[in-house]
Amino acid sequence: MTDRYLAFANSTAGRRLIGALGLPAPVPLERWMAGRTRPVDGALLLGGAGARADAVRACAHKLSNALFADREGQHDLPRWTAEHGPRLKALVFDAGELTRFEQLIALRDFFQPTLKALATCPRLLILARPPETLEAPQAACVQCALEGFSRSLAKEVRGGGGVQLLYVDAGAEDRLEGALRFFLSPKSVYISGQVLRLARCDTAVDDWSRPLAGKQALVTGAARGIGAAIAETLARDGAQVLLLDVPDTADDLAALAARFGGRSLGLDICAAEAPQQLLGALPDGVDILVHNAGVTRDKTLAKMSEAQWNQVLAVNLEAPHRLTAALLEAGTLRDNGRVVLIASVSGIAGNFGQCNYAASKAGLIGLAQAWAPALGQRGISINAVAPGFIETQMTAAMPLTVREAGRRMNAMRQGGLPQDVAEAVAWLAQPDSGAVSGQVLRVCGQSLLGA
Ligand code: NAI
Repeated sequence: MTDRYLAFANSTAGRRLIGALGLPAPVPLERWMAGRTRPVDGALLLGGAGARADAVRACAHKLSNALFADREGQHDLPRWTAEHGPRLKALVFDAGELTRFEQLIALRDFFQPTLKALATCPRLLILARPPETLEAPQAACVQCALEGFSRSLAKEVRGGGGVQLLYVDAGAEDRLEGALRFFLSPKSVYISGQVLRLARCDTAVDDWSRPLAGKQALVTGAARGIGAAIAETLARDGAQVLLLDVPDTADDLAALAARFGGRSLGLDICAAEAPQQLLGALPDGVDILVHNAGVTRDKTLAKMSEAQWNQVLAVNLEAPHRLTAALLEAGTLRDNGRVVLIASVSGIAGNFGQCNYAASKAGLIGLAQAWAPALGQRGISINAVAPGFIETQMTAAMPLTVREAGRRMNAMRQGGLPQDVAEAVAWLAQPDSGAVSGQVLRVCGQSLLGA
């Protein structure tokens, strides 16, 4: 589905008209291109001090070839100033050592001079300490304050920029590189205003050009849309992928799988024999499990039939639960595995006409939270990815007014692409992303829904 308004808004005539009328002006978002190696295509500014900044400094030369600090002599880097420095593509600020209220001004001091010097689609990242690990109430409060700051700055930053906050546990600094490669690159272009926690993790990526090499992945609902993009992206990153979708899609699915050396399986995930068939199709086990298959049957609750309720709950929630349990019990889901559940912003904010769908997606977020502690004992992580408005056949089928509202009601003023969700899944599937578990990552351009 093409967004004609986006193209118009970026034409010469469109820019003038949209400016005069004060209409939303979305910028074309920059996306990751296959074959690219350096996460940051431009200058990276590092500020603040602490164990997290030291970890960033240690791998920064692999992220960008133009590194700067905001102060003389800091991090052994040249000083950046608004007057003489280049435009900034990425900013990282370690706020983890801020412990007193009056120190919060450091956020203003660091970010304010940069705001008029940002390149297009800049990526801003704040690193911090998890408030719940700090004993002093004021220190914990100060770390909490970073949430409000980062989510607000995310709404103010222009030009397709994104701002995230990562709370990094003591001892988890050595797992920052994967998160930096994701959050400072166009792979996270449709993500903004997100807050995640990184914990210690024993597994690491060997080869950043193929971080999923040697891994076996399963993607459900892979015949089209977001699922097809996830399968392709996991294959790009080195995984062997089994694409699953309903039997009707068998031919298309097989052709898609052949394109990137994967295998295909026509199977209804709700069928009684689905667990057995899946176990049979994965004789060597699976490392990455992506529950993407999903359906909508929208109606207000007043008009919703029992069948509409049951079908959505069965596909979106019961099947992922049943299949994951079967793969776990059989030992097919290997140690250090990665499970990703595709939820939805509807499951966080609720949505008119989607009581069934929102319940199923909120349930998936609950599944990630409920299972994370037990799976963590085997090194397995489980997370939910919650897309906002993504351009697929599912959203193309929406009525025009609902579709236009969904597209524009976010900080990017446009819908995301299946690739945006796929990049988030591919990051969470990496060995070092065991540092993240039981959490939900929204890929929604900081949607105003459920903000
Ligand atoms: P889509 O409708 O284009 O693709 C869904 C795929 O799942 C289809 O290929 C379908 O055949 C398959 N599927 C459905 N029931 C199945 C079953 N019983 N067994 C096996 N496969 C089955 O949907 P889209 O847009 O690509 O969405 C993918 C996921 O992302 C879904 O879980 C959806 O709820 C979620 N999502 C999508 C958003 C969007 O804006 N497109 C927003 C938020 C979440």
